[in-house]
Amino acid sequence: MYKDLIPYKDVDSVTLTAINKVPDRPLKSPDDDSTILQGDCLDLMLEIADQSVHLIVTDPPYGLDGMGSDWNAAALDKRKSKAGVVGGLPTGMKFDPKQGVVLQAFFEKVSDQAMRVLYPGAFFLVFSAPRLSHRMATAMENTGFEIRDMYAWHYTRSQAKAFSMDHFVVRMKSSERVKTNILRKLGGRKTAQLRPQFEPIIVGQKPKEGTHINNWLQYETGLIDTKNAQINGGMPSTVLAVEKPIKDKYNSHLTVKPVALIETLIKLFSKKGQIVLDPFVGSGTTLLATRNTGRQGIGIEINKEYIDIINQRLGVRNHDQT
Ligand SMILES: C[S@@+](CC[C@H](N)C(=O)[O-])C[C@H]1O[C@@H](n2cnc3c(N)ncnc32)[C@H](O)[C@@H]1O
Repeated sequence: MYKDLIPYKDVDSVTLTAINKVPDRPLKSPDDDSTILQGDCLDLMLEIADQSVHLIVTDPPYGLDGMGSDWNAAALDKRKSKAGVVGGLPTGMKFDPKQGVVLQAFFEKVSDQAMRVLYPGAFFLVFSAPRLSHRMATAMENTGFEIRDMYAWHYTRSQAKAFSMDHFVVRMKSSERVKTNILRKLGGRKTAQLRPQFEPIIVGQKPKEGTHINNWLQYETGLIDTKNAQINGGMPSTVLAVEKPIKDKYNSHLTVKPVALIETLIKLFSKKGQIVLDPFVGSGTTLLATRNTGRQGIGIEINKEYIDIINQRLGVRNHDQT
């Protein structure tokens, strides 16, 4: 069934629990608990059994400037030179009002599958972009999820995004006097983008069956474990402050999340030995986090070049991954 199954260790020890629907199989060792699937998650999620996953943590593509399934550094560089709607604007800065509509339609399909594979009461944690999070939350709600909360991943390492108009004026085919006048009128104003310091995480929940207690006793989902999910030495709150990771040289992925952040979410929302799925696993951060926390991870990634990075990251032992 899984032609594209790519084990990072030896083939015999690859876990197929969710796929074969034996979710309570205990872990053999913390080293054989990851399943990597290469392909489109909309196809591959269909292969995962109904009600077999305890948690989904994911960081989907937002479709920013075509940053969909084909995104990688080379493709983005090409687009950079083509420029955006406003000539010369770097990739990521163009604004397309249709983007949210397209993203919502795509994410509804993903969310539909998430609803099917999750146990009742289980959580669907979705990273988003502030200006698109309403679309993603709506997609989740439209497919039956209850939107329970929104967390902020807070970081400080980021670049200013506001874009000055001055260089457009300087390049105008007008007299110096006219240009100086326009620059004076603009007064150094920029596009409305402050330096970003947070990313929203939408907290969706599949409706539970009966009371919290009944649902927990039957599925071991729907309640959180704050005792074992400390972050920066304290109880987690809705603002999770973790610095952006410094990537390994071999990791060319553009949007690597901090392992410590994903570990905290996994510890909060699941239990040791449970199955955690990431349908957009990128460079494999979620799989690293599931391994570090003793969960069974299933990661799906469409882009073949990232599979090597995942294998490398999971193969590196005692590496300083923050
Ligand atoms: C935002 S990145 C995830 C990064 C990840 N959190 C990490 O730390 O490395 C989203 C990933 O989804 C992948 N992707 C896009 N469309 C996909 C699809 N239909 N199925 C599976 N993966 C897809 C992209 O190639 C990209 O690597």
